[in-house]
Amino acid sequence: MGTVVHPRSAPDAGCPVSGGHPAPPPTRPQPVDPDEARTFLEQFYAETRPLIPLDRRLRQVFRDIATTGTYRHTPEELTFGARVAWRNSARCIGRLYWNGLRVRDRRHVTAPADVAAECVEHLREATRDGRIRSTITVFAPDGPEGPGPRIVNEQLIRYAGHRLPDGGVRGDPRYADFTDQVVALGWSRPEPLGRFDVLPLMITGTHGRPELFDLPRDAVHEVPLQHPEFAWFADLRLRWHAVPAISNMPLVVGGVHYGAAPFNGWYLNTEIGARNLADTDRYNLLPVIADRLGLDTSSVRTLWRDRALIELVRAVQYSFDEAGVTMADHHTESERFLTHVAKEESAGRSCPADWSWIVPPVSGALTAVYHRYYDEPDPDARPAFLPPSP
Ligand code: ARG
Repeated sequence: MGTVVHPRSAPDAGCPVSGGHPAPPPTRPQPVDPDEARTFLEQFYAETRPLIPLDRRLRQVFRDIATTGTYRHTPEELTFGARVAWRNSARCIGRLYWNGLRVRDRRHVTAPADVAAECVEHLREATRDGRIRSTITVFAPDGPEGPGPRIVNEQLIRYAGHRLPDGGVRGDPRYADFTDQVVALGWSRPEPLGRFDVLPLMITGTHGRPELFDLPRDAVHEVPLQHPEFAWFADLRLRWHAVPAISNMPLVVGGVHYGAAPFNGWYLNTEIGARNLADTDRYNLLPVIADRLGLDTSSVRTLWRDRALIELVRAVQYSFDEAGVTMADHHTESERFLTHVAKEESAGRSCPADWSWIVPPVSGALTAVYHRYYDEPDPDARPAFLPPSP
């Protein structure tokens, strides 16, 4: 997606993720294509059977497009559009609950400070002290007058990567460039520099000038990591945030582009344990854990990395469970995904999926999702969450 790396090494999550930090669109958005509006409304009517007849709604929408260049979704159309965009996300293993997505309609909000305040409210409502709810907040779309707001951060909650004089990074190296950008815009790094410093939101309004907003502490629920057997694990002072909320993928529904539409689900244990904390270009913690475990690290053939990895994923799962924060495990999620595929088939739909993102990054062949192939993803499927613009 956008700046994403090779798919076999990139899959991060199972859910749509991307690497880049988009600039605001430089040009005026095009008028909505009436054919895209029609295709969407036909789908909406076929799946939900609303009360107003389709041809009346179509006439109204075509008239609005002809006179204003765009049209306004009803709240029901918006909710359906956001849910189907999730259903169409070929990289997401968690799609069984697509129809339960909570949609916060904030289409009247455009000013960066108001967008930031609504992102904070989104986090509070989605977190609920750990009983996480899948939620999306939809801000003003792009329109003929100009672009709507954009959230530049890849996710609402991410940790800074502070470049050090020795060439290393303290914190999350994935966000070292983004951290440099916010510092250039006036963000002051915490002192002393931490490994888990929450980054500010960087938001552009309709004028395209970025502004920064700190997240209040109480909107960022975090889980300190501990291990069910090894007391030393807590001494590593690791933590992770409870809510993954992708914020830089535009939602496109019926030809309308919602450039700021942050959405969250809940974490899968392996996203944190087997990727964020383990990847050599992220927190790279396997050598530290192997050392504490007293493993023989003299050769990869001792499988020290594999053994350390399992203990790390175990610690993540155990800590979230103990803290009462919703987290999926890869075994259960794999079963749920196949239930979803079967349900889609019985509804007469195919369920395109990207095998390399669906199969978990540990114990692949222990999960049923590994042992089959899926319908090819269609990049033109709509509604959709699009890759962020470069
Ligand atoms: N892999 C990303 C991360 O570690 C999160 C992607 C979305 N994941 C999800 N479970 N909804 O932060």
